[in-house]
Amino acid sequence: MDLILTPSSPMLGKRVAEILGLKLAKTHFKKFPDGELYVRVESDESNHLVISSINSNDDIILINLIFDALKGDIFLIAPYMGYARQDREFLEGEAVSIRAVAKMLEERVEGILTVNIHSERAKEKFRKLFDLDAMPLIGEHFRGRDVVMISPDKGSAERVKVAASIANADWDWLEKKRIDAQTVEIFPKNVEVNGKTVLIVDDIISTGGTVVEAAKKLYELGAKRVECACVHAVLADFAAVKLFSCGIEDIVATDTIERIFSKISVAKIIADHIRRVYQKA
Ligand code: R5P
Repeated sequence: MDLILTPSSPMLGKRVAEILGLKLAKTHFKKFPDGELYVRVESDESNHLVISSINSNDDIILINLIFDALKGDIFLIAPYMGYARQDREFLEGEAVSIRAVAKMLEERVEGILTVNIHSERAKEKFRKLFDLDAMPLIGEHFRGRDVVMISPDKGSAERVKVAASIANADWDWLEKKRIDAQTVEIFPKNVEVNGKTVLIVDDIISTGGTVVEAAKKLYELGAKRVECACVHAVLADFAAVKLFSCGIEDIVATDTIERIFSKISVAKIIADHIRRVYQKA
């Protein structure tokens, strides 16, 4: 078995390969002037691990080209599975994007490994997917820090509870209403943060809108300092600038999407799973 690195997960892929003692296949990627992509993989192996977060449309095309180039069995590691927030038909006639992505990927792979896919509903669109939880790693990272962990909405509350129990921290959640893709409203709710350092914890930070609104409320409620942590640092639309400008003091993320804020690595939990499932000695 070898591991195919892609432009979206090179560091994480290298870490996983090192832990598992896998060789990296030689790859060639190109983008033509019109935006079309090109892939060539040199591999003699008959089993392949492909690691690529799905954080852009190019990632999806690239994965498909890699699938076409490879012979033999493929196992896909998609640490961040994009398109998972469109996990239902919110308006009549909408595509259920994650269902379409699932269909496309599962046609070619033996299995898919993700980290904190956005929802159970998204996960149910797959037949061959296993989802890992990085919240314990966030908990470990903050163990020993005197913070109150806050989920910006009820949807993430269970995840934050996991991180908080490992960090041995207090936790609570806020009430959020999404107005549109860029706008959210956080409702007043009494959480005990007066004079405290607060860590907003979420699965994804995308535009940053959720964290910004949550931070405003938390400062109004008397928080002394607000930081944020997430699994997937999508950070679209200058989100990091928005976060720091609204008074967020630090951003911590995992490396499911490789950012300067990726201070926690999911390499070990990925490698442990691969070892359990594919390298049963
Ligand atoms: C929503 O359900 C997710 O858990 C995140 O809260 C959301 O994706 C964050 O998006 P944004 O950063 O654009 O507010």
